Amino acid sequence: MARHLITSAIPYINGIKHLGNLVGSQLPADLFARYQRGRGHEVMFLCATDEHGTPAELAAAKAGKPVAEYCAEMHETQAEIARGFRLSFDHFGRSSSPQNHRLTQHFAARLDQAGLIEERVETQIYSKADGRYLPDRYIEGTCPNCGFESARGDQCDNCTKQLDPIDLIEPRSVISGSTDLEPRETKHLYLKQSGMRGQLQDWIDSKGDWPVLTTSIAKKWLNDGDGLQDRGITRDLDWGIPVKKGEEDWPGMEGKVFYVWFDAPIEYIACAQEWVDAGKGDDWERWWRTDRGADDVRYTQFMGKDNVPFHTLSFPATILGSGEPWKLVDYIKSFNYLNYDGGQFSTSRGRGVFMDQALEVLPADYWRWWLLSHAPESSDAEFTWENFQQSVNKDLADVLGNFVSRVTKFCRSKFGEEVPAGGAHGERETALIADLERRLRAYEGHMDAIEVRKAAMELRGIWVAGNEYLQDAAPWATFKTEPETAAMQIRLALNLIRLYAVLSAPFIPDASAQLMQAMKTEDDAWPGDVAQALSALQAGHGFAVPEVSFRKITDEEREGWQVRFAGKRD
Ligand code: 2FM
Ligand code: ZN
Repeated sequence: MARHLITSAIPYINGIKHLGNLVGSQLPADLFARYQRGRGHEVMFLCATDEHGTPAELAAAKAGKPVAEYCAEMHETQAEIARGFRLSFDHFGRSSSPQNHRLTQHFAARLDQAGLIEERVETQIYSKADGRYLPDRYIEGTCPNCGFESARGDQCDNCTKQLDPIDLIEPRSVISGSTDLEPRETKHLYLKQSGMRGQLQDWIDSKGDWPVLTTSIAKKWLNDGDGLQDRGITRDLDWGIPVKKGEEDWPGMEGKVFYVWFDAPIEYIACAQEWVDAGKGDDWERWWRTDRGADDVRYTQFMGKDNVPFHTLSFPATILGSGEPWKLVDYIKSFNYLNYDGGQFSTSRGRGVFMDQALEVLPADYWRWWLLSHAPESSDAEFTWENFQQSVNKDLADVLGNFVSRVTKFCRSKFGEEVPAGGAHGERETALIADLERRLRAYEGHMDAIEVRKAAMELRGIWVAGNEYLQDAAPWATFKTEPETAAMQIRLALNLIRLYAVLSAPFIPDASAQLMQAMKTEDDAWPGDVAQALSALQAGHGFAVPEVSFRKITDEEREGWQVRFAGKRD
């Protein structure tokens, strides 16, 4: 039995995520976790909310709530939606947890001891009206280059020129609109990761099996980007993890907090501590410390492409720099973007389908199937309602749903609600089993390699093979002249339903559970050998005709949703 540590990029706390966010990290991570559990391996699947930073503070202010209260509520909201999508986290933690406070402060102390922290004094813009320093993108003004009046402090969206807030003409605070801004000197901690280039290069070079998307981004930042510049890891904010050296105060850093991107990935580890403290397990170190058994663990991370530099450079720099035996990631699965109906998903404009809305419209399995079978792996992908309707109606309703319904209803009417006996398999059955054997091994290969789309297509092929068999064997016709043969065909087909439930569970867990229940079995063992798996339900074993597991999406529904999700969220 292997041990798999699996983490999904932790979603920001401010607001409900859209389907593009979901398919870029949490959902494929869940697919992989369910698959590995299904194969009988030990899995630790962790995710959390990413709760610090200015966006969280501003969202709380907009909601008129203290930031801690806002985060606690939004965490619960996100957890509830994750349950709705059947995301099977072993723990869904919070980056604001006491465990993460301690661990983040611990890492900072270790990095300091290793001589990797430097204190630098810099000039930043202070807003007297807001009583705070303003991060670059919270300052707006007129672009000195093109005259655009809403250029941000870091970049002009009109002419794309990179800017410094000091360059802006008539700068103002985005928060209050105040123009009473002044440059002030403030001290910050920098992580000297530039000195770790060689170490990081060697580590990335040793990962020859990583997906091209991950490696290309990592190498771009390592070699010709700004990725390995020394990185400021502190901020002048109220909300965050106070800057401390372990448990000690850090002189000169009073009132400052760690930068959200410093503490967020550390939460992957702290989350396992939260898991223990929540009484769900008793040993987190065997997952995270190579001196406590984590050497045997295979660690896989899931994330959107924008997160890759932080996970291939910054977080490994923190881990390696600590000089402690923490588990480093073995495999990083990254994703391109999912676009929405001819444009982009937009959180600010409410364009596209958000996770809570999706569940109001249809159950989780419908979304899981479409999203995973169209995962943006080799390039960006696009959600269109036409494609969604077609894929659901064809794959789920016509292919899988129809097979189940025809087989169980036919059996009930001709043989009753028990697996019929019939004789031995004939040539057609032997050929089907050989075909399924090949397909099953291909499916496993794609799942092991986390080739999500290919795995979905192979699974669909497995469903189609059953349908074609049924069409070809035509037990409804055979029954008239050779009822024994028809009984054998139906016995095989009922067993196929159980096999489909087992193989499909990582993609569509609710439907799988429903099929297992209808087949009145708890035998969900992953098939070693297809012939054997197809004899699990013996003659005389009871079953029930399941409720319709998948219904079709009508044209009227599709058109209504198209309009509803085109603009501002309701
Ligand atoms: O892009 C995001 O949603 C970030 N909150 C991801 C953080 S992942 C990790 F560093 F924890
Ligand atoms: Zn400009």
